[in-house]
Amino acid sequence: MALAAETQRCTGQALLDAQLDLWHHTFGYIKSMALKSALDLRIADAIHHHGGAATLPQIVTKVTLHPSKTPCLRRLMRALTVTGVFSAQHPADDGGEHVYRLTPASRLLVGSPNLAPFLTLVVDSVFVSPFFGLGEWFQHELPDPSLFNMTHGQAVWDMASHNATFDKLFNEGMIADSGFIMDVVIKECGDVFQGISSLVDVAGGFGEAAQAISKALHVKCIVLDLPHVVANAPAGTDVKYIAGDMFESIPPANAIFLKWVLHDWGDADCVKILKNCKKAIPSRDAGGKVVILDMVVGVGPSDTKHRETQALFDLFIMFVNGVERDEKEWKKIIFEAGFSDYKIKPVLGVRSILEVYP
Ligand SMILES: C[S@@+](CC[C@H](N)C(=O)[O-])C[C@H]1O[C@@H](n2cnc3c(N)ncnc32)[C@H](O)[C@@H]1O
Repeated sequence: MALAAETQRCTGQALLDAQLDLWHHTFGYIKSMALKSALDLRIADAIHHHGGAATLPQIVTKVTLHPSKTPCLRRLMRALTVTGVFSAQHPADDGGEHVYRLTPASRLLVGSPNLAPFLTLVVDSVFVSPFFGLGEWFQHELPDPSLFNMTHGQAVWDMASHNATFDKLFNEGMIADSGFIMDVVIKECGDVFQGISSLVDVAGGFGEAAQAISKALHVKCIVLDLPHVVANAPAGTDVKYIAGDMFESIPPANAIFLKWVLHDWGDADCVKILKNCKKAIPSRDAGGKVVILDMVVGVGPSDTKHRETQALFDLFIMFVNGVERDEKEWKKIIFEAGFSDYKIKPVLGVRSILEVYP
């Protein structure tokens, strides 16, 4: 009897655990949307304004909020503290106010480096809305249309060239990411760029990464990107901007840098880009190399958060028919493009640096 009751209890608990798993996944998007509203309302800035610790009434003085929504903001803050975006110190007495603080994560939403523009891009409706059609997209033959095209009727780069608001959102997001990660690149593996006298940052956007390399390592840098990007590139930097198409040709240099470029493209396109890179650089003995900053799935720390973020990023980038590759997949495109060797430096968390040699 006792055994039967225990079994029943275990079964019930197992069922509840299974239900919890499903609910946890299903409501996962609310986490993203809570973070999005924190970005929209600039809650981290409001806390930062008060010295990094603020009560709800203090936060309210700095965010645009209808007074009737103050209790709702308290609930938003509860979700954001449970998920670790902020921390909360409980009041000593029942009538007291919680004190909300920035965590290491939300400190990256204020000051510099600042990841807010990149996160704002990823949770923007232009990027989120395609995922409602993911199930339907699986029923169509590859390669076209991408999930993004299926939703918006155009490719990301076409939208960026016609829609100034999206273009700004996109470029600001990329600048924010480069501003953050290039500091780490230079600290952790600046040696990758040692001995290089000239470098082309292929599809380098507004050149934030090239500027960081040029400034820290005194390498002469050129940024190659599409004409609409180069037309709006910042003036007065020490990098040179060239409008062009990486599928056509790449200006010659000692080395090529490709940050977050190859993950946007399928294998055949990556091989074309890499072949053009190879044409632009000297032999390995003469110092020629391609430096790639991208994800190598399965490489880097092996905890669940890292692995899950890599798998989710891969699914995310699939919306432009892009791929986050594992080592075997990288090896295939690298050798198919005619390169002879490569090295992976897993020093950037979920991302890595790949050094590729002619
Ligand atoms: C994901 S962004 C990466 C930008 C930059 N490397 C970074 O990480 O900040 C991809 C870039 O590829 C550029 N791009 C797309 N197609 C291109 C082409 N055919 N030739 C040159 N650049 C291109 C886009 O304009 C965009 O700036």
